[in-house]
Amino acid sequence: MSVPETITVFVPRDAAALAVGADKVAAAIEREAKARNRDVHIVRNGSRGMLWLEVLVEVRTDHGRVAYGPVRAADVPSLFEAGFLAGGDHPLCHGLTSEIPFLKNQTRLTFSRCGITDPLSLTDYRHYKGLTGLQKAVAMPPADIVKQVTDSGLRGRGGAGFPTGIKWKTVADATADQKYIVCNADEGDSGTFADRMIMEGDPFVLIEGMAIAGIAVGATKGYVYTRSEYPHAIAMMEEAIAIARREGILGPSVLGSAYAFDMEVRMGAGAYVCGEETSLLNSLEGKRGIVRAKPPLPALQGLFGKPTVVNNVMSLASIPVIMDRGAQFYRDYGVGRSHGTIPIQLAGNLKHGGLYETAFGLTLGELVNEIGGGTISGRPVKAVQVGGPLGAYFPPALFDTVFDYEAFTAAGGLIGHAGIVVFDDSVDMLKQARFAMEFCAVESCGKCTPCRIGSTRGVETVDKIARGIEPEKNKVLLEDLCNTMKFGSLCALGGFTPYPVMSAMTHFPQDFAPAPVREAAE
Ligand SMILES: Cc1cc2nc3c(=O)[nH]c(=O)nc-3n(C[C@H](O)[C@H](O)[C@H](O)COP(=O)(O)O)c2cc1C
Ligand code: SF4
Repeated sequence: MSVPETITVFVPRDAAALAVGADKVAAAIEREAKARNRDVHIVRNGSRGMLWLEVLVEVRTDHGRVAYGPVRAADVPSLFEAGFLAGGDHPLCHGLTSEIPFLKNQTRLTFSRCGITDPLSLTDYRHYKGLTGLQKAVAMPPADIVKQVTDSGLRGRGGAGFPTGIKWKTVADATADQKYIVCNADEGDSGTFADRMIMEGDPFVLIEGMAIAGIAVGATKGYVYTRSEYPHAIAMMEEAIAIARREGILGPSVLGSAYAFDMEVRMGAGAYVCGEETSLLNSLEGKRGIVRAKPPLPALQGLFGKPTVVNNVMSLASIPVIMDRGAQFYRDYGVGRSHGTIPIQLAGNLKHGGLYETAFGLTLGELVNEIGGGTISGRPVKAVQVGGPLGAYFPPALFDTVFDYEAFTAAGGLIGHAGIVVFDDSVDMLKQARFAMEFCAVESCGKCTPCRIGSTRGVETVDKIARGIEPEKNKVLLEDLCNTMKFGSLCALGGFTPYPVMSAMTHFPQDFAPAPVREAAE
């Protein structure tokens, strides 16, 4: 009697896939396979990041994985009919996953395993070069790890772009009985999801990165601070941490070495400002999430007053590949002072939204029009907000801006957490400016006056412009208010809110004409 061949089918368990029915698709495949007496092994992988194709089902064949998407449960019988278990043709078939241009043209260093492996399989993780960075780290002097990270040119991916190695050196050089690694997984920026994707799709890479950070600076305890809106990421991280502990990756002897490191996940209550590192630390300590004045720097007096590395998920998840392949390998990617790769998140009104990891250096226009495929509405792009709710709006006239930290600053914007949100010509930029001020008013921690009061005055002033009340005078007032917020706020929430407001006024002056004039023009 011949034993039926087991076919491996991949159905993502990433929140984006779950939201469009991944569990139902997996159940339908199981049901259909049973009914047809086919032996199918379903792996619940992370997402490949091609969100318009979710649920992206893949089948392992002799030639590689074949992709089908977007699959709904109702499509499953027809997939079986078409012989998808052997990679058969079907209207939803995209051929080999690795040949889909959106994926093929990426340089995946941080996301190299995401969507390929079972996120909770250490065997998979090891098979795809996981833990080699940590193995090297435990065998070298901690100062050499810090040097590698410095030499790699890695800059913080959370928003400010501060050199990671310099931050680590400050903590490493501090003397204290306890130091901490805090992973900022709050991911509050609009249109961003890279942190969530890595936590759900390759949690061990973050654990490995944090353990390396701990060894480098002499910290034995780490925390991942994330949001309540990320239940799947939290569950995945907790499971992965438990496995890592069981397997001796975390605990009193990391990979059998003399170094101890352990970590846990903490959940915030959903305030945008709790992504700011000092209010995050307050929140972690069980206090109200209010911004602390700097100095002292968290690197010297952070969590519970101890030297603390606060790094974004992407920064920490980039460490294993840097340790594995070396500083120069990573540094050679990118342009100018922006080294390595950056996981860009394409969102909003786009045909091809998703995660695109690439070396710094593409232009904004290439990202929006070529990789993102232009608007899904088919209407012309009017504005693109880069860097979250505090990021500037770019008009198509600035689409030749190169994706690197300095070029974006020079163009009056910021890269932030590399989220790009696209709007077509139906967007009203005055409303977007109002939204920026309103967002700041709602999310302000209230500690300083320019932000707490300025944002509310900002909403009122935009409303006056919209109603045609002394528009010219109020535009000058709004600009003045923006300058006060920019230069007088304690943190970047108040300090950067002027970016979306001023860029909207500068690049889209027609939207700030009084209402009767705007209506007549429409
Ligand atoms: C209002 C505000 C919100 C922020 N939100 C986040 C966030 O969600 N995630 C993040 O990593 N950094 C966020 N930051 C930046 C952090 O303060 C900090 O710079 C970052 O965690 C440092 O890590 P990195 O050097 O790896 O980027 C925010 C900053 C501000 C002012
Ligand atoms: S700028 Fe706003 S969020 Fe930041 S400290 Fe001041 S009041 Fe708080």
